[in-house]
Amino acid sequence: MPQQIKRLISAFAIVILLFLVMQQVLKPSSFGVSGHYRFLAIQENKLKELQYAGSESCIKCHEDIHIEKSDGYHAQLKCEVCHGPALRHVMYADKFENEELPDSLKLNKPDERKDCAVCHRINAARIKITFDTIDNSMIKQVDPMKHNLVHKKTKVELKCIECHYPHQP
Ligand code: HEC
Ligand code: HEC
Ligand code: HEC
Ligand code: HEC
Repeated sequence: MPQQIKRLISAFAIVILLFLVMQQVLKPSSFGVSGHYRFLAIQENKLKELQYAGSESCIKCHEDIHIEKSDGYHAQLKCEVCHGPALRHVMYADKFENEELPDSLKLNKPDERKDCAVCHRINAARIKITFDTIDNSMIKQVDPMKHNLVHKKTKVELKCIECHYPHQP
């Protein structure tokens, strides 16, 4: 066998050996227990605290809003999309029915122009899908720096919700 082939074979052998050794050292202990993934990842994720309650759970106490929303353009938006994760809010209110909610469990009310702009700002990159809304329209886009920015007479900056009711815009 020519000398250079021998060298090539031994070089390959070293690389493969190194790979096998490193694989053993770096492989997480629970890898491969029940498939080509890290078995403990499932247990770790199970331990994470739940955060979201789901829109159905809001109906019990906020039925009026649920009904209003079901009739408008925001019908398909889940409550927690705007108000944030609410599981602790639901559990507390459920348990201590007549008590006032502590501040930490009050949910945020995203009423700033920038909050609506998250979805409604003009964005050429936004894919043009039609939403399953009352008229199957695309999500309408406005320029939040121009669209009714200030009051015509007082010149004070207006919030979107002064004209559009968020639960039925
Ligand atoms: C067991 C009853 C109960 C359930 C279920 C419930 N809430 Fe509430 N919620 C309350 C009470 C009580 C208040 C405080 C009184 C008020 O302002 O009406 C409140 C207030 C709020 C507020 C206003 C916060 C503020 O600072 O004024 C928002 C927003 C809200 N809830 C959203 C939700 C959402 C979203 C859900 C579902 C994920 C939900 N709630 C489920 C009882 C409930
Ligand atoms: C598009 C975002 C958005 C969605 C979706 C939404 N909300 Fe709101 N919600 C708001 C904003 C903004 C306010 C503050 C309104 C204000 O201050 O006048 C608010 C206010 C509230 C309040 C305080 C009382 C009131 O009427 O002002 C409650 C309670 C509430 N929302 C519950 C809900 C529930 C329950 C759902 C789902 C059925 C929901 N919201 C869906 C944006 C939203
Ligand atoms: C999570 C995304 C999201 C947020 C946040 C959001 N919207 Fe919407 N909005 C939608 C979708 C989806 C529709 C239904 C598609 C459409 O018609 O634009 C809609 C519809 C509307 C419409 C009706 C447009 C039409 O077709 O005539 C108005 C007005 C509107 N939203 C205002 C607001 C205001 C004001 C806020 C802030 C309080 C807000 N939206 C926050 C997603 C959002
Ligand atoms: C002074 C009242 C006023 C304010 C403030 C206001 N709007 Fe409007 N908005 C309107 C009126 C009236 C229309 C319908 C006529 C039009 O298209 O201009 C409208 C239309 C819309 C539409 C539908 C546009 C379309 O193409 O049909 C969206 C989306 C919208 N507004 C979102 C917003 C958002 C987001 C904000 C805050 C950044 C906001 N609006 C602030 C009065 C207002």
